[in-house]
Amino acid sequence: MPEEILVPPAWFEPGAPPIEVDFGCHRGTFLLGMAEKYPGINFLGIEKQSARVEKCLGKIRRQGLGNALAVQGEGAAALVRWLPERSVSIVHVSFPDPWPKRRHASRRLVTRGFLEGIERALCPGGVLRLMTDDASYFSDMKALLRQGWAELPWEDGVERPVTAFEKTFLERGRRPCRCAVRPLSRR
Ligand SMILES: C[S@@+](CC[C@H](N)C(=O)[O-])C[C@H]1O[C@@H](n2cnc3c(N)ncnc32)[C@H](O)[C@@H]1O
Repeated sequence: MPEEILVPPAWFEPGAPPIEVDFGCHRGTFLLGMAEKYPGINFLGIEKQSARVEKCLGKIRRQGLGNALAVQGEGAAALVRWLPERSVSIVHVSFPDPWPKRRHASRRLVTRGFLEGIERALCPGGVLRLMTDDASYFSDMKALLRQGWAELPWEDGVERPVTAFEKTFLERGRRPCRCAVRPLSRR
């Protein structure tokens, strides 16, 4: 059994650098790209597949990145497990598995409960950035976000690397659906 990695408590102390979360960080393309580009921000990847978490941790070690970490976690429970209330400035959720068959829709990540977990974890001014290639999933997400969330412009002046899945979709000439939102309770 591998030893459980813990997020350094110093990350959550007052005055610590802002924290961004990449939820469903896969093998860390976006997580590591961001950590390299923005050393003044701490980046936490949360991923359900342990082998992928290990991959991320190996890359983080090899690149000597002190501002990136990946932990194992699944769904809304992981938000509560890993993130104190009002601790995170941005949560990125990119290309969550779409589960396109209606009978599998309950397996989707973005649910009301998940959004409540995100709201709890975001600090005042915090933002959720969502991307998907699945128009139907996106429309369901937008319906959930209609209550209690305000949409912001996607472009916020920050240059971000593309995620692994985004790269694939862009190469196929497909434009992802995306939105940035802020909980009304955290303004
Ligand atoms: C389709 S991939 C997208 C990966 C990456 N975000 C990107 O844009 O390239 C979805 C990732 O989310 C992870 N994942 C799926 N459901 C999850 C859940 N409920 N909790 C945490 N991670 C999950 C998968 O294991 C996979 O690594």
